[in-house]
Amino acid sequence: MNAKKLLSFTNARIMLNQPSTISAFFRGGKIEAYREVIRKLLVNLSECKSEEISELLENSKIRSSAVFPKKMAFLRTDSEFTNILMLYYLIRKEKPQLIIETGVWTGKTSWTILQAIADNGSGHLISIDLGVKTSCTSKLPVPEIGGFVPKQLRNYWTLKIGDAAKLVPTLLKECGPIDMFYHDSDHSYEHMKFEFTNAFQYVKNNGIIGSDDINMNKAWMDFSPSLRDHFEIDNLFGYGHK
Ligand SMILES: C[S@@+](CC[C@H](N)C(=O)[O-])C[C@H]1O[C@@H](n2cnc3c(N)ncnc32)[C@H](O)[C@@H]1O
Repeated sequence: MNAKKLLSFTNARIMLNQPSTISAFFRGGKIEAYREVIRKLLVNLSECKSEEISELLENSKIRSSAVFPKKMAFLRTDSEFTNILMLYYLIRKEKPQLIIETGVWTGKTSWTILQAIADNGSGHLISIDLGVKTSCTSKLPVPEIGGFVPKQLRNYWTLKIGDAAKLVPTLLKECGPIDMFYHDSDHSYEHMKFEFTNAFQYVKNNGIIGSDDINMNKAWMDFSPSLRDHFEIDNLFGYGHK
């Protein structure tokens, strides 16, 4: 399929409250509920077959974190944990080679993306963050930006400290086309729309644009309808394909 895919974690969180997820929860507890969400994501967004899903779920390292959630104790809520798993499995399935993300903070999403890249055996992540001194986020609970990212994953990683408003267009021009773009930095309307619109030009066909916190304002909603001429938009996940 020749398509760009838009992934919103806020819409995906809604999945946690859907009847099929709830019945999965009653069947097998939290882990079954996570699996149900991931299964739906992969079937819808990535056209994954059920055997492939079982293989991904059975063979991945993050699965052991689902079994032993204490390892990921820094994740505050179930929906955060589900987001992380979705991001991980999506990258395992789609195998994007070049990913740009904005907003690193402790490095929770960077770690997840990098773990998936390492498990895939290839790929590179470029992350952008303002840095501790200029960040508007509250006190960093680790010694440095991206502090959660384990040393052994850092050879797949380039961390750029600076304003995404300046760095995103420059990096996209230098490195594009890219396979995936993920937003989790400045959640103002102007900035989100700016990132989505810039990323869209440089994400390859079949590539992915993802965002956290689309409920902060209408940037994602305003951005996606402008694609309606070219894409079918799926309201459940907020993604579309040609
Ligand atoms: C919500 S946190 C990111 C959380 C991270 N994705 C995680 O999972 O741990 C937002 C981050 O965006 C960064 N940020 C805010 N505005 C930015 C900008 N204009 N350019 C680059 N980074 C920015 C902040 O410094 C902060 O670290």
